[in-house]
Amino acid sequence: MSEPLLLHSLGEFACLTLPALEAAGASVICEIGAEHGGNTTHLGRWLGPRGGRLVSIDPSPGAAYLDWVAAHRDLARHVALPSLEAIPQVGAQDAWFVDGDHNWYTVFHELAAIERVQRAAGRPLLAFLHDVGWPWARRDLYYAPDRIPEDARQPHSWDLGVRLGAAAAAPGGFRGCGAFAVALREGGPRNGVLTAVEDFGAASPVEYFWASVPGVFGLGVLFDRAHPAAADLANLFGPLHDHPLLAKLERSRLANYLTVIDWQDRAAVTSAERADGSEPARRAS
Ligand SMILES: C[S@@+](CC[C@H](N)C(=O)[O-])C[C@H]1O[C@@H](n2cnc3c(N)ncnc32)[C@H](O)[C@@H]1O
Repeated sequence: MSEPLLLHSLGEFACLTLPALEAAGASVICEIGAEHGGNTTHLGRWLGPRGGRLVSIDPSPGAAYLDWVAAHRDLARHVALPSLEAIPQVGAQDAWFVDGDHNWYTVFHELAAIERVQRAAGRPLLAFLHDVGWPWARRDLYYAPDRIPEDARQPHSWDLGVRLGAAAAAPGGFRGCGAFAVALREGGPRNGVLTAVEDFGAASPVEYFWASVPGVFGLGVLFDRAHPAAADLANLFGPLHDHPLLAKLERSRLANYLTVIDWQDRAAVTSAERADGSEPARRAS
């Protein structure tokens, strides 16, 4: 099978997350944000032979993913609710994968809810978070803005897109094409996934270890410093935290992808003009 044009799934980090789950002795795992199962099915394949259990939370996953869950009832179950409703029902887990709605309000409250269920069960917290890098580190994305209280919602657009180095959303660029809306501005308080993790860490009485692997939109790892596997987890992720070579490769990958989007946008305009019978517009560059 050929690689997708844009690597984007949390599943790309399986070479790190599965050894981490092994080190932590994890057998009961929850993933928030299943989509097409790009990561969840990796977890399922890993958990199956270990007799583990997987629960996924996603109000609107892909149909093929639900077929996969139906074919793996002994292993997996799906909760079709938004995370903030589902986490108290699902309860404590050995590990969490947080990859649902990538905005400050949702991620801050997901972490707070996860911390509550873990503390109530007397179990340490281990969470892997996706999209802690550009573009959602410091800018909210909303799959369903109506689910976010109005006073916690950034002004946003369903049409505009984002570009490296530009704080303001603008026409073109990386965008949701109807699947999600983006905050009009990058940065500032209560904006973005990484800001949510930092604010959660500052508000919590628990001492957490944090590492961020700067590739494929950024993987964050958060766990109790008192976690029994803390030393192994820190050895695994500590050397990758904000790794400058990975960060440079990621930035180059993103710049190249944004160039591809520009080419696609120009090609779409040209073919629309041809269909219209008009002369293709001339463009500098
Ligand atoms: C980026 S995709 C997840 C990708 C997947 N984890 C992977 O690595 O391949 C985000 C998913 O989160 C789901 N989602 C959006 N809001 C959510 C929420 N409040 N709670 C749980 N899932 C949510 C969306 O329906 C979407 O399927």
